[in-house]
Amino acid sequence: MKSKIVKLVLLLATGGTLALFSHALAAPPDQIVLDAYKKAKPAVKLDHKKHAEIVNNNCIECHHKWDKASGKEPQKCGDCHKAKKEGNTPSIKSAFHKNCKDCHKKNKAKGAPTSCKGCHK
Ligand code: HEC
Ligand code: HEC
Ligand code: HEC
Ligand code: HEC
Repeated sequence: MKSKIVKLVLLLATGGTLALFSHALAAPPDQIVLDAYKKAKPAVKLDHKKHAEIVNNNCIECHHKWDKASGKEPQKCGDCHKAKKEGNTPSIKSAFHKNCKDCHKKNKAKGAPTSCKGCHK
């Protein structure tokens, strides 16, 4: 009896996952190296998979302009955020620093790095 319930739960769980990714959307990358703007500082590694878990898959925490229902991949941050601030669109550097560092400051106790070297290895 118990094992039947377990199987049913597993079946529902995998079915749910399949439904979630049955759009054209490929699985998001596990690891990303952010280096498109690298000049003064070393590239930054983002454990994308872990960060998706940290926000409970609320992807728009970072992909803030993404319409998930569109079934398309989110755009690159650099499609909109350029080297220099344009109107009220922050530069890529401040967009990343605001997104990444602000959350890290709140999560310092959980081990989120806030020093330059913590991200720019
Ligand atoms: C939480 C992570 C994080 C922390 C902490 C952080 N940065 Fe960054 N920073 C980034 C990311 C991500 C980028 C974008 C990198 C890219 O796309 O090339 C970036 C970009 C930059 C850039 C522009 C790109 C370049 O190499 O010229 C500079 C300069 C920079 N950071 C300096 C700093 C300094 C100085 C500190 C410490 C006071 C710091 N950062 C702390 C994540 C971080
Ligand atoms: C902590 C911030 C953060 C979270 C949370 C996050 N992403 Fe990302 N994701 C990024 C960054 C940064 C990139 C690299 C974008 C770039 O190169 O400009 C990226 C890249 C991607 C890419 C590759 C295409 C692209 O735009 O470069 C996909 C697909 C993606 N993310 C999907 C997701 C999905 C789906 C979720 C939620 C389950 C998610 N992301 C959660 C920050 C995040
Ligand atoms: C389709 C264009 C577009 C994309 C793609 C995009 N942004 Fe933005 N972003 C904007 C605009 C425009 C603003 C100015 C304020 C607004 O309209 O939300 C902004 C503002 C921001 C801000 C400041 C928000 C505030 O409260 O001050 C941050 C941080 C940010 N973006 C980070 C990112 C990151 C990180 C990515 C990639 C994961 C990204 N953005 C992708 C267009 C975009
Ligand atoms: C919603 C909050 C949040 C956002 C946004 C966020 N982080 Fe984090 N990050 C965390 C937390 C919490 C940890 C520590 C948890 C852990 O390591 O298990 C962490 C850990 C890290 C670490 C060290 C551990 C590791 O994974 O290698 C790096 C590097 C990092 N983040 C980079 C970034 C970058 C780059 C961005 C922006 C593109 C970013 N983070 C955005 C919450 C966040």
